[in-house]
Amino acid sequence: MYHLVVFASGNGSTLQAIIDHIKNDSLEAKIDLVISDHPDAYALKRAEANHIKTYILQNKKFEARDLELANVLSNYSIDLIVLAGYLKMIGPNLLENYTIINTHPSLLPKFGGKGMHGMHVHEAVIAAKEKYSGATIHFINDEYDKGNIISQTKVEVLPTDTAETLSQKVQAAEKIQLIEVLDRFIHHEL
Ligand code: GAR
Repeated sequence: MYHLVVFASGNGSTLQAIIDHIKNDSLEAKIDLVISDHPDAYALKRAEANHIKTYILQNKKFEARDLELANVLSNYSIDLIVLAGYLKMIGPNLLENYTIINTHPSLLPKFGGKGMHGMHVHEAVIAAKEKYSGATIHFINDEYDKGNIISQTKVEVLPTDTAETLSQKVQAAEKIQLIEVLDRFIHHEL
């Protein structure tokens, strides 16, 4: 069995895509825990609805949160941590001990970095009149959105696109891409 922990700060549609993929394709994989920094994150409800354990982070400060996470995760045997719309920086305790990947809704290195998340990214892409956007799955390091890239998917930005329509296109492509990447991890190809 391949053991996953998913971090999510918000809606959790990415988490849902992982849950559905594991279930629908009867994968030898299991999400052991969903962690959120936000008690109202809808992702937590999705986890509970699927009988997945949840944990809400208590500490707001970087160092204390890193220690809290290390402590919580020490109770699990984890193959991979997936940041699925998780907006906080990951600290050294986790970076040293786990394989961690993130999904980001742009073609990194474009439109990455602090403050660049979710709808802010799509608004910036539209404002810059980019012809293409997309999603990037990458390993995590100690800088926002700078870790080694595993894969990218491109989508065309049409002149009629708004941040909202672009977000829908990117998120659809992003989920397909994340699932392909997860399959590679589960089959030990990554
Ligand atoms: C996803 O598009 C993900 O790429 C983005 O947040 C969305 C999460 O949606 N992550 C970032 O912007 C991280 N920098 P969800 O809450 O519905 O899964």
